[in-house]
Amino acid sequence: MNLVLLGPPGAGKGTQAERLSETFGFFHLSSGDVLRAERKRGSALGKRVAGYMDAGELVPDEIIMEVILEQVRSSPESAGFLLDGFPRTRTQAERLEEALTGEGRRTRGALSLEVPDEEIVERITGRRICPTCRRVYHVKYQPPAKPGQCDADGASLDHRSDDTVEVVEQRLRAYHEQTEPLKTFYRERDLLFEVDGSREMEAVFEGCSRIVRGLMNEAGA
Ligand code: AP5
Repeated sequence: MNLVLLGPPGAGKGTQAERLSETFGFFHLSSGDVLRAERKRGSALGKRVAGYMDAGELVPDEIIMEVILEQVRSSPESAGFLLDGFPRTRTQAERLEEALTGEGRRTRGALSLEVPDEEIVERITGRRICPTCRRVYHVKYQPPAKPGQCDADGASLDHRSDDTVEVVEQRLRAYHEQTEPLKTFYRERDLLFEVDGSREMEAVFEGCSRIVRGLMNEAGA
């Protein structure tokens, strides 16, 4: 079963995607992680996208679409995928559906994590990430046992270069102007499920899990 996760920056898409994938066996694909890995490798793609990401703007559709769609096409059909951060524009959503239809697959639901802008800034500025295993922490809501160190491997935690107050404001603008309208795209297809993402992580996970289980029952999985 294939799902997409929508929501503003810092809504908890990555956090929930990790847990949902562990629990239900989804293939988790984060477009932001794909782009950050390209930057880290210093690839031509990484160099092309760096300026957009650091400014909090969306990477142009023509740069990102084929990279992500290629990974979607090669994802194991049996597991189903959970897309986190893609699609982000109407063009991306249309191309995703076309690509899936061509392979006899489709998106079964879009889970939209709803979090007010006021909460986003605190979540984003307090986020820390392990550079080795990619585990996500928050200095207040999900702190590591030892400050600044990953619980899993002891690596020093990083702060993403686009996690500043100024860049977050631009990322929120991009979300409201370009990505939020996708809720209408999925609502018109009876695929939209809104989840209150402002609750504690466990409660958000329960809310998402209930929807996933309902969809799996419908699909007879
Ligand atoms: P991307 O990496 O996708 O960033 P984003 O959408 O801005 O989302 P984030 O990763 O910032 O947040 P999240 O929702 O995953 O939250 P998290 O779980 O970490 O994109 C980065 C950039 O890449 C874009 O700006 C763009 O330039 C480019 N890009 C990517 N995809 C693109 C596309 N398709 N098209 C064009 N450009 C693209 O949680 C955040 C923090 O809050 C964490 O510290 C976490 O511990 C904490 N937290 C989570 N849940 C809760 C909770 N319930 N309560 C309290 N704290 C919580």
